[in-house]
Amino acid sequence: MARLTMREATTRVLPAAEAAIAEAASVLRAGGLVAFPTETVYGLGGDATQAKAVAAIFAAKERPQFNPLIVHVASLAAAEGEAEFDDRARRLARRFWPGPLTLVLPRRADGSVDLLAAAGLPTLAIRVPNHPVAAALLAAFARPVAAPSANPSGRVSPTTADHVVDGLRGRVDLVLDGGACPVGVESTILDLTQAQPVLLRPGGVPLASLVAQIGPIRAADARDGIKAPGMLARHYAPDAPIRLAAGSVGPREALLAFGPSPLTGARRMLNLSVRGDVVEAAANLYAMLRALDGPDIAAIAVMAVPGDGLGAAINDRLRRAATRD
Ligand code: TXA
Ligand code: MG
Repeated sequence: MARLTMREATTRVLPAAEAAIAEAASVLRAGGLVAFPTETVYGLGGDATQAKAVAAIFAAKERPQFNPLIVHVASLAAAEGEAEFDDRARRLARRFWPGPLTLVLPRRADGSVDLLAAAGLPTLAIRVPNHPVAAALLAAFARPVAAPSANPSGRVSPTTADHVVDGLRGRVDLVLDGGACPVGVESTILDLTQAQPVLLRPGGVPLASLVAQIGPIRAADARDGIKAPGMLARHYAPDAPIRLAAGSVGPREALLAFGPSPLTGARRMLNLSVRGDVVEAAANLYAMLRALDGPDIAAIAVMAVPGDGLGAAINDRLRRAATRD
C-alpha cells in the first residue's frame, strides 16, 4: 500500500491481532507509518532503513529535524548489527532488554539504519521493547523500526490508540490498538558513547538499577548539548498551564492528585495513585494530563510526587510540561 501524500492518507485503527500485525509489516515495507504500542508509550514507526519513511515520521510529528529518533529492534543480536556494543552496553542489554532502556552507542558503519534516523549523528539510540505487539511487529518486519512517541512534537505522549488518533489522525496509515501501555513513561536514555555514561532522559528503568550494573552515571548537562528533545525545556505539554507542588487548589483549576489525601476544591480531580505508588502513577500520568486538560480551567495543579524509582521520570516530565516559553 503506497502512501500518497501525508494529507491524503487515511488512518485505520485495527486491534493488534496476528493478521493486523502482518499487514502493519507490509505497510512498513512500503514506506508507510504504523503506530504501535510499546510498554512505555505508543510509537510512530517507520522503516529505519528507508530515508523516505524516516522523513515521513519527522513530517507527521512536525518534529525539528535535528532531533534524532530511537530505533527499535527485535533482539540484542539485531542491535549489534547496527551499533557498537562494549562490555557495559552488553551487560545492560542482557539485564534490561527487552525493556524500557534506550542505549546511545556508536553507529556501525555497516549498519542498515538510514543516516536521517539519527539526524546525521555518528551515534544511534536503540532499544528492544518489551511489549508483545511491538515484539511481533519487529519479528514480522525483520528490520529496524524508527519510532518516536506517536504524538505531535512537544505534546503529551500517547498511552492508548485513541490518544494516537487524537494527535495524528490522517498522518499515520495504521494504528495497532494493543490497549493501554503498562509503564506509561518513555524509556530511560543512557549515552554510552563517552568514557563516563550519561543519563540523557530518566524513564522506565530507574537510574539506581543502571548504576547497580555499571557504576557511576552522570546527569546530562550543558556539555551534552540538546541531544534529546526530551531535554528541551518545554515538552510533554498539555494546553493548560501546569502548576507544580501545589499545596492548595483553586475552583478554576483541575487537580492532578497523588496519594491518599488529595487536596479539595478543584473543578475536577484525578488521582495518579491513591495508594501513593509511583509505578501506578507513571502508568496514569499522560492519560490523566489529557483528561484534565481543557479550555475551562486556569491551570492543572499537580501535587508533589516522590522522586524515587519511576518518580524521577514523572517529575522530569511534569517539569517540562510546566515550562512555558
Ligand atoms: O519509550 C520510548 O523511548 C518511546 C517508545 C516509542 O519507544 N520512544 C520515544 O522516542 O520516546 P522519542 O523520539 O520521543 O524520544 C527519543 C529520544 C529523544 O529525546 C532523542 O533526542 C533521543 O532519544 N535520541 C535519539 N537518538 C539519539 C542519539 N543518537 N543521541 C542522543 N539522543 C538521541
Ligand atoms: Mg516524545
